[in-house]
Amino acid sequence: MRKIDPAELAVRPFQLLDKEWALLVAGHNRPNPMTVSWGGLGTLWNRPVVTVYVRPTRHTWGLLNAHPEFTLNVLPAASRPALELCGSRSGRDLDKWVAAGLTAQPSEVVAVPRVAGARLAFECRALATLDVDPSRFLDPSIEKLYAAKDYHRVFLGEVLAVWTEE
Ligand SMILES: Cc1cc2nc3c(=O)[nH]c(=O)nc-3n(C[C@H](O)[C@H](O)[C@H](O)COP(=O)(O)O)c2cc1C
Repeated sequence: MRKIDPAELAVRPFQLLDKEWALLVAGHNRPNPMTVSWGGLGTLWNRPVVTVYVRPTRHTWGLLNAHPEFTLNVLPAASRPALELCGSRSGRDLDKWVAAGLTAQPSEVVAVPRVAGARLAFECRALATLDVDPSRFLDPSIEKLYAAKDYHRVFLGEVLAVWTEE
């Protein structure tokens, strides 16, 4: 993989997470991959930032609160079954690396690994968190996405390294 400057990155932002999905890896001691499709790439506080949205019901939520680093990994299309497993099973119950046939690869900057074979990967450290506050929803239909009232915590991660196969 080639390390690039974040400013060099060419992606289709509305295709990347929504359609291709990604693996968010969190956890310092026992890292855990979780599938995500909500989030964004952008600029905040004069830094390149990856934003991910994690519900408190996820094992990943506790891991991120305990250690604020994460990687976001976009896999090739053939890895869809692994993404389905990591988006439907919890790391509380099983080792998803083994179950999904994934291999952790040490990151360069953060203590949380990347996913070997990813076609694009971000190494990030959270600068801040924000909690989604339903009293601020301006469109009432959003509330339908929270039947369990498990409003996301937003993790705003500074991008410390970007790796690409392209
Ligand atoms: C396509 C897809 C996208 C998902 N996106 C998110 C997301 O952005 N945030 C979130 O909290 N859960 C998301 N999930 C659900 C988690 O991946 C799922 O609940 C997972 O089993 C949680 O794993 P964990 O308990 O090991 O953290 C998504 C699931 C799928 C299949």
